[in-house]
Amino acid sequence: MLNSHQSCNIGFVGLGVMGKSLALNLADHGYKVAGFDLDENKINDVLATEEKERCSSISEARIIGCSTLEEMLPKLTTPRVIVLLVPAGKPVDIVCEQLLNSGLEANDIVVDCGNSQWTDTIRRESEYRGKLKFFGTAVSGGEVGARFGPSLMPGGDADSWKYLQPMWEAVSAKVNKDGTQIISNIPGKQVTEGEPCTTYLGPNGAGHYVKMVHNGIEYADMQLICEAYHLLRSLLGYEPEEIGKIFETWNEGELNSYLVEITADILQHYDNTTGAPLVDMILDSAGQKGTGRWTSISATQMGVPAGIISESVYARALSTLTEEREKAASLLVAETELGEIDSEAVIESVRNALYCAKICAYAQGFQIMRAAQKEYNWSFNFSDIAKIWRGGCIIRASFLQKIATAFTEKPDLENLLLADYFADTLADKQKGLRQAVVLAAQSGIPTPSFFSALAYFDGYRSEILPANLLQAQRDYFGAHSYERVDAEAGQKFHTLWQEKNRPEKKL
Ligand code: 6PG
Repeated sequence: MLNSHQSCNIGFVGLGVMGKSLALNLADHGYKVAGFDLDENKINDVLATEEKERCSSISEARIIGCSTLEEMLPKLTTPRVIVLLVPAGKPVDIVCEQLLNSGLEANDIVVDCGNSQWTDTIRRESEYRGKLKFFGTAVSGGEVGARFGPSLMPGGDADSWKYLQPMWEAVSAKVNKDGTQIISNIPGKQVTEGEPCTTYLGPNGAGHYVKMVHNGIEYADMQLICEAYHLLRSLLGYEPEEIGKIFETWNEGELNSYLVEITADILQHYDNTTGAPLVDMILDSAGQKGTGRWTSISATQMGVPAGIISESVYARALSTLTEEREKAASLLVAETELGEIDSEAVIESVRNALYCAKICAYAQGFQIMRAAQKEYNWSFNFSDIAKIWRGGCIIRASFLQKIATAFTEKPDLENLLLADYFADTLADKQKGLRQAVVLAAQSGIPTPSFFSALAYFDGYRSEILPANLLQAQRDYFGAHSYERVDAEAGQKFHTLWQEKNRPEKKL
């Protein structure tokens, strides 16, 4: 054990799964950690794991347990850095108040590592200014990520970043120059080479905002994969294991990603008790904690078209209507008209559909961040954001390297779809997306995010949309006025639509 005179580099409040894993990760990188949790069992658990994992050349405990915040604070070097891994929402404010009552000072840094809403982080940063330095760092990668290398998305006071940077760079995931992650899942054997999957993203809520968009993309990515699976299963009648093998081969190409990899694995799992494919034994009702929904709401509030992300949120919501769906299944019957099916061709179409739709979903995510940086006075480096998502996080994927390159070549790129690589890919593979959507429509298989991706692609590339008619409708019933194609932008016109003497047709 550390004796009471020894200083710890960092304190942890909350030693649940994520807190424990991140604390052990820091310990592996030579940082001394003081940990507090309301649940004594959790403190004992992290201490026991640390002791078990500690290599014989290290004589002292690298993590010490504290039973109160008052006990923890004097053990920390100054300025104190305290990581909160407590549930998002009220608990964060409660702990901040408790820390202040326990002797925290104005220069001390409190880092919220939970999935907090960015507006809360903005509020807290300003509310606690002068009392403590409130900093946000969103963590992606789940338990294994936190333990061996997460993607870290920090945002807050730039001076505080100087203290956090070496620690965050040490513990985050590392990638090679080509974007592949350098993996080590062995306690005590840290990865020291490679580019760290963390970078300072901007003041106050910037980090939590980027993580929220990461999760919005995560929702879309997961839903698109599920729709691809659903199509292959329903159209071809393949068993989950066969589809898992198809995903395995997809994972070797441009679709290479953590989510495709785990899907391939999941589909090849069998249930212990029944021997059925495990996926078939899992209730088809999806949960959500809210980050995807926040992304959709934020996009809607800023007027950013992010239909794929929103559809993915709605798809989860629809899935929870289990009883209603059961009833409707016998009442509402689809009239299908599916022709002959060529399995190889279907697999290829679905594969291309997945890649095209995925590109569109990521394009929407980056569009949301583009709008948000104006709204909140941030200045994002989109290439850096793509880079820190290449490893550690849930949406890590080979094609993030392509996104990073696109934004490095053109930092003010208006939309990812306009970058050469993505425009060429969509030109080349869009047929697959169209085919998948047609097959889904003809056979009554719900694929809302594929539909939405195609609509986004077609909408974005349309020089002419029927919004002229929509403006006319608004002007007709509400005198909302419209702009004319032959007048200066901003000049407003109104027509008395119901007047008897209408102008004559001339052209
Ligand atoms: C991550 C994940 C992680 C978690 C979310 C999503 O990046 O590590 O996004 O934050 O899985 O809680 O959860 P829901 O699907 O429950 O919204």
